[in-house]
Amino acid sequence: MPAEIVGLGVAVPPYVLTNADLEELVDTNDQWITERTGIKERRVAGKDDSTALLGKRAAEQAMQVAGIGVDEVDLLIMATATPDYTLPSASCILQLELGMIRGAAMDVIAGCSGFVYALATASQFVDSGAATTALVVGSETLSRISDYTDRGTCILFGDGAGAAVLRKGDAGVRAFSLGADGARSRLLMTPAGGSRFPATSRTVAERRHYIVMEGREVFKGAVTAMAASSLEAIERSGLAPTDIDLVVPHQANQRIIEATARRLKVPMSDVVMNLARYGNTSAASIPIALAEAWEQGQVRPGQTLLLTAFGAGLAWGSAVVDWTLPNPAEPAAEEPTQSALPIVRGLLDGSLWEGADMLPPLRNVPEAAL
Ligand code: UT7
Repeated sequence: MPAEIVGLGVAVPPYVLTNADLEELVDTNDQWITERTGIKERRVAGKDDSTALLGKRAAEQAMQVAGIGVDEVDLLIMATATPDYTLPSASCILQLELGMIRGAAMDVIAGCSGFVYALATASQFVDSGAATTALVVGSETLSRISDYTDRGTCILFGDGAGAAVLRKGDAGVRAFSLGADGARSRLLMTPAGGSRFPATSRTVAERRHYIVMEGREVFKGAVTAMAASSLEAIERSGLAPTDIDLVVPHQANQRIIEATARRLKVPMSDVVMNLARYGNTSAASIPIALAEAWEQGQVRPGQTLLLTAFGAGLAWGSAVVDWTLPNPAEPAAEEPTQSALPIVRGLLDGSLWEGADMLPPLRNVPEAAL
């Protein structure tokens, strides 16, 4: 019996960074960004938000839809490239925030393919009976590692989170195909801050803690790998490409998605797109797109979906999912938004962090355990 998606949730920060705002920060313009990427705006996490806290809001929604409490989750997998800390895992910080004191928690780091990797992993645990209820969260605060002086990258990325609850059911994750090629790791990376090149005053002065990318090469790799892994996942599912009702691709670049759809012979009307509003949210992009499309009725029970992603690693992955979760009566009301420009200025000069607490809160810890 496959792992069925029985709950979905989404959380995005209320702060919006428009293309016009980026024109004030770097030498770019709305026309270039729109034509080359399809992105019009992206969200930026506020000072008091974080990868785990965004993940918490998405996870709580997903658990509410599934009708379960956090004590029923026995496997939590967090897909992220921007964990709150390098140690411990982001999933353990999310556990703390959710008040989850049982079950296993681990992170999956596979760049923008993180959610597909995490979904594939969780589905194996559920399918085999090793876990009864899995919570899979894709959450990112890419604004924290985006260089707002580099027009080649900062225009792309945004923050947000999406979550799914998995349980054994009659229909669900049918098949997947995962792949990676570490030989091309230099094409998309954050050079400093890891154990090979720890933080020093020099790495900070040289701005080495931000994403660097060879965009054109990544672009080419994305189209080839997303199309090939999609076809492999479809073949493994025992279906034909024509059986796919809807594609939910990683939202990296409109041109990448269009080129992939052409290779798969899927019309763009059967492709979920929300890139214009959120940009590239890495491991969060597929669950955000999925949850929104489901809320709006574009994803419906009875459909067979193809999820496909590509990103840092380089790593890629695709999954074929039979959809069963009934749509909500109406989409959730949109939160009012504000400009993210003051936050980005605070990221640039570091003033955002003045007075901020570095340590996570000590919550839900029984006194005896302290
Ligand atoms: O999530 C998975 C990982 N990421 C991706 O999938 C991203 C993959 N790559 C891309 O989406 C695209 O490569 C980019 C959107 C990043 C760049 O688009 P491109 O069409 O590949 O542009 P390019 O890097 O080849 O640059 C073309 C020109 C250059 O100027 P010259 O040398 O031709 O004079 C750039 O300097 O565009 C210039 N340029 C810009 N101009 C205005 C680069 N960024 C900007 C900008 N505004 N923001």
